[in-house]
Amino acid sequence: MQLPPGPKVSATIQMLNWVFRPMSYLTECAKNYGDIFALKLQNDLPPLLLVHSPEAIQQILTNDHKELEAPGDLNSIFEYLLGKNSVISLSGKEHQRQRQLIMPPFHGERMRSYAELIENITTNTITKQAKNQPFNIRNVSQEITLQVMMEAVFGIYEGEQAEKLRHLLCEIIEQSSSPWRVAFLYFPKLKEMVGISELWKQQMKKQEEADQLIYQEIRERRENFDPQRTDILTLLMSSRDEEGQPMTDEELRDELMTLLFAGHETTATAISWAFYWIHKLPEVREKLLVELDSLGENPDSNTIFKLPYLTAVCNETLRIYPIAMLTFPRKVKTPISLDGYQLEPGTVIMGSIYLTHRREDIYPQPEKFNPERFLEKQFSPYEFLPFGGGARRCIGLAFAQMEMKLILAKVMKTWSVKLIDTHEVKPQRRGLVTGPNSPINLEIQNLRQPTSVNLETVKV
Ligand code: HEM
Repeated sequence: MQLPPGPKVSATIQMLNWVFRPMSYLTECAKNYGDIFALKLQNDLPPLLLVHSPEAIQQILTNDHKELEAPGDLNSIFEYLLGKNSVISLSGKEHQRQRQLIMPPFHGERMRSYAELIENITTNTITKQAKNQPFNIRNVSQEITLQVMMEAVFGIYEGEQAEKLRHLLCEIIEQSSSPWRVAFLYFPKLKEMVGISELWKQQMKKQEEADQLIYQEIRERRENFDPQRTDILTLLMSSRDEEGQPMTDEELRDELMTLLFAGHETTATAISWAFYWIHKLPEVREKLLVELDSLGENPDSNTIFKLPYLTAVCNETLRIYPIAMLTFPRKVKTPISLDGYQLEPGTVIMGSIYLTHRREDIYPQPEKFNPERFLEKQFSPYEFLPFGGGARRCIGLAFAQMEMKLILAKVMKTWSVKLIDTHEVKPQRRGLVTGPNSPINLEIQNLRQPTSVNLETVKV
């Protein structure tokens, strides 16, 4: 098999670039080697192929279960946190079964029932910020999305146990976000080094404490099962697979951790970037406020969800700095031809969401934040794919989009907000996803008076 081109430097150098400067490295490789290239990240493993043309992305995402598969064992780096039953670590039929069990609560319409909860949590959290005092929007967005997760997903509200669990989950997620943590995952031997092994043990201890609280919650909820509750844990407990079997306690624990891990920081980061762009670019802020003010007081969540300019701002936010740089890996099952290369079974391929979203031929001036591009053109799911696609497409897509829109609309409509420092913030690796490389500090100035509406200025 002739491999696509790729860097010639040692696997260690390639891995260090991949861990510590992944986006610049991917950009350099795309420039040097084109639409498909091979990275050699570990000496004992075959090279990893990266693709970013819409044609190749379409081929890898629409071929799952035929010539390609999306095996969970390639995601084993998540297992220490999410467990063996997580939808992310499962393959084939087991993966499909688990998706079928989890998907129903995440259906678009069903999601809207969480709108009031999201708006109330947003109001409570923002009201706590002192007026005219800078705060890091990422911390505040994380506080909001974690509370939303606790209430909408876990169905846990107030009390000592809830506080303890929230605290532990926060710490676990924060720790898993450092590039060093990613280095441990790719170089497991690092965990044995003095000092580092202690850190690892501490993290595992926190995980065990959190697990005990989650299992206790599952037990109590099973004993006093209330089918009227609308949280996702209750819905998962009522779910049955094709053979009428419910989820076990271990499956419930692993899926709760998965939803939290996959959905909390990702959404909070997307919200932080949206605030950054909206307040960095006055014309974007003005247009958005005109659109929001045209709704009058207390608009319903469905109307907010469908707003064209707000949707375009959210899409452009997810395009320019996608939270997930890559799709989950796909593995060749039967020989295929991809971008002119004959690939043998066992070859591993990943779609680069970051590089696809940065292609000049799809997005002219890709470095420019320009929501209008989403009003002028409909992009295909292989050109715009912040949530991946195919057999592993993001389960929380509707939930994340709804959270983004409702939180932005609530804050923008209610308060005057200022971006404190307009220096350029760039993305960097945060664990297995990306986030801002420096704090995005905002300030709440005062309650807003809606402006008189002139929809003319909003091109829809
Ligand atoms: C802005 C926020 C989010 C982004 C950018 C995002 C992005 C992604 C991406 C790129 C994938 C991989 C798709 C693929 O390989 O084709 C994924 C998978 C997944 N996401 Fe999200 N996600 C977000 C929010 C959420 C939320 C809120 C939840 C749940 C509450 C969630 C749950 C999941 C799960 C469970 C998977 C694994 C699916 C599988 O393996 O079958 N995500 N997400």
